[in-house]
Amino acid sequence: MIIAIDGPAASGKGTLAKRLAAHYGLPHLDTGLLYRAVARTLTDHGDPLDDGAAAVRAAQSLDLGHLDETRLRGRAMGEAASVVAAIPAVRAALVAWQRSFANRPEGAVLDGRDIGTVICPDASVKIFVTASAEERARRRHRELVSRGETVAYEDVLADIRRRDARDSGRAAAPLAAAADARLLDTTDLDIEQAFQAAVAHVDAARRETA
Ligand code: CDP
Repeated sequence: MIIAIDGPAASGKGTLAKRLAAHYGLPHLDTGLLYRAVARTLTDHGDPLDDGAAAVRAAQSLDLGHLDETRLRGRAMGEAASVVAAIPAVRAALVAWQRSFANRPEGAVLDGRDIGTVICPDASVKIFVTASAEERARRRHRELVSRGETVAYEDVLADIRRRDARDSGRAAAPLAAAADARLLDTTDLDIEQAFQAAVAHVDAARRETA
């Protein structure tokens, strides 16, 4: 079973994907980390984020099985990731690895922006997770503060709006719900309620295809 989870920044898709993977005993891939790692490589080398050739080289030489999440999770890397993720050749360089992760015999849970539309269009279940920009900014602000970053809520909200516009407006694999995705709005749900709603979606999809 392949479970595809997509949605905008801080919608809760990562937490949901992790919990679904544990619940169904499947491996999990957070595909945002791939784009964050490309951005990190450029930053470490002092290359500009819009240097397409350097970004493709970085994407092709990532050690994909060993991404260091703590170095990639910060606010600046989320913003930088969305810049490199708009480069079509960077996305193309990462497709085969994501598909081979998804197509292992037991299945997998992948979360990102284009899993249901581009990476796994035949996924068994597709869930598109949303929440209001204000609620997502509150969650991301809390997360960044708990990581030790000093940042104002208004700045996080501005980041989220800018990132939504860039991710949805780009030509290459824009953030969008697949036509057959189930929508899950987590604005008024806590983690447990969102998880239960996602499990209900997965189980309903499995019953439909059984
Ligand atoms: O955790 P958050 O939702 O803030 O970010 P993320 O999932 O780590 O993704 C960071 C950036 O990578 C996004 O803003 C997208 O531009 C890009 N991304 C993408 O284009 N395609 C994916 N499958 C995953 C992430």
